[in-house]
Amino acid sequence: MSKARVLIVDDEYDVRETLAGLLQSKRGGYEVTTAKNAEEGLSLAEKIPFDHILCDIYMKPSDGFYFLKRVKQAGIEANIIMMSGKADSDMALEALEFGAKDYIHKPIVAGQLFFVLKRVEEAARLRQENEQLRTQVQEKFSFHNIVAKSERMKRIFGVIEKVADYKTTVLVTGESGTGKELVAKALHFNSARRKGPFVALNCGGIPETLLESELFGHVKGAFTDAIRAKKGLFEEANGGTLFLDELGDLPLSLQVKLLRVLQEEEIRPVGDTRNIKIDVRIVAATAKNLAEEVKKGTFRDDLYYRINVLPIVLPPLRERREDIPILAEHFIKKYNSRLGVTVDGISQEALRLFLVYKWPGNVRELENVIERSMVLAETNMIQPADLPSQLRNAEQSSEASAPVPGLDPTVLSIKQNSKILEQALIKRALAKTRGNKTRAAQLLEISLPALLYKMKGYGISNGNNHLQEQAA
Ligand SMILES: Nc1ncnc2c1ncn2[C@@H]1O[C@H](COP(=O)(O)OP(=O)(O)OP(=O)(O)O)[C@@H](O)[C@H]1O
Ligand SMILES: [Mg+2]
Repeated sequence: MSKARVLIVDDEYDVRETLAGLLQSKRGGYEVTTAKNAEEGLSLAEKIPFDHILCDIYMKPSDGFYFLKRVKQAGIEANIIMMSGKADSDMALEALEFGAKDYIHKPIVAGQLFFVLKRVEEAARLRQENEQLRTQVQEKFSFHNIVAKSERMKRIFGVIEKVADYKTTVLVTGESGTGKELVAKALHFNSARRKGPFVALNCGGIPETLLESELFGHVKGAFTDAIRAKKGLFEEANGGTLFLDELGDLPLSLQVKLLRVLQEEEIRPVGDTRNIKIDVRIVAATAKNLAEEVKKGTFRDDLYYRINVLPIVLPPLRERREDIPILAEHFIKKYNSRLGVTVDGISQEALRLFLVYKWPGNVRELENVIERSMVLAETNMIQPADLPSQLRNAEQSSEASAPVPGLDPTVLSIKQNSKILEQALIKRALAKTRGNKTRAAQLLEISLPALLYKMKGYGISNGNNHLQEQAA
């Protein structure tokens, strides 16, 4: 390790020499530079990255305060320790308010000097450590309030950063409670529009008749209740982002109108004859499968293609279980301060249940479960007994349903179950070998005639008859 660098600024020759001698004699030692006044000290400090600067308060022509102020202005990061005589001892305290890290009284004795230096070094080390921890926590596990560490979510953070600044419409899909609204906000606050408004509308929550005027506004007298003109949400969101939540619930009649707005970037308030130019970035979200809705005829295909330019698909929580512990920790912190309780964490057994449970309500359900258990918790750790019954039973139900799709957990007959298992394995082997029966038979560790016989018995065709049978 290289020696720490110290600058001594003092107008008395004796003080400089004594201090330099003490510092150099110390085991491990310091690399010492001296300056005989504030100006000289300043020009040295601008050139050399000192770790510490020991500076006299009472100096001529400029005093230690002048030096301190100039060092801070110059953005020099060294720890400054002020030295004061008897007469100016309360000025030392004052210096702390101006950014000095510590002070020491003259006459300076070795013990005192090294004690102060050690204290300053320790504080600097802690500061640095905290800084690192903070950035690590933020970088790794949180992005605009979205807490996650799974690869899939981190990839989504990357996508958000990349697309935030474009005006292109983003469609966020995912099951209920996966964080679609959080993503919409992250897109807004990560874009150049962050100073503009973020306006949200739940397309499913409002009667069709009101929705149009809600979106586009209306003029006075446009309909019976329109006693005064009203701005629509598109106008409210001008220069910012309009979040259209539950877009899949938008009635067909309004889908046409929305499509027109997206294409022309202008709106026409209900009852108005003129169009208004708007500059709005649309983020839409839906828990529905819009492609399915298009097939069913409840969602227009032209709007779907226009909206689905940049899709962001949020995985359900059960497909990113590595996020569960840090999400739980995040919510425990949140509700500790909200509920005024002090829960430290989750017991091992409770966490195990969290990890096997399916979380149909995703992160929202996790948040609710944590809040509820924190209210009920008898100790400072959340225990299985504090959890709702669906979680307490998670283990049994997951064991029963896990092994093979189609297996009936109430049927215990080996004969019956092994037939189901056999069929599943054959289908899997055929899929894996893209219908190559010779290879499939090898994977299944049975002969080719045995495979063909079983396939016929179960009525399995390989579904890839056009593929030529190749001898492996
Ligand atoms: N990754 C996450 N980190 C922290 N909080 C999250 C995360 N995902 C979701 N949440 C929280 O869970 C709740 C539900 O999130 P959000 O409202 O964004 O979900 P959603 O997908 O819009 O759900 P819905 O389809 O039901 O409207 C919110 O309280 C949100 O703050
Ligand atoms: Mg939502």
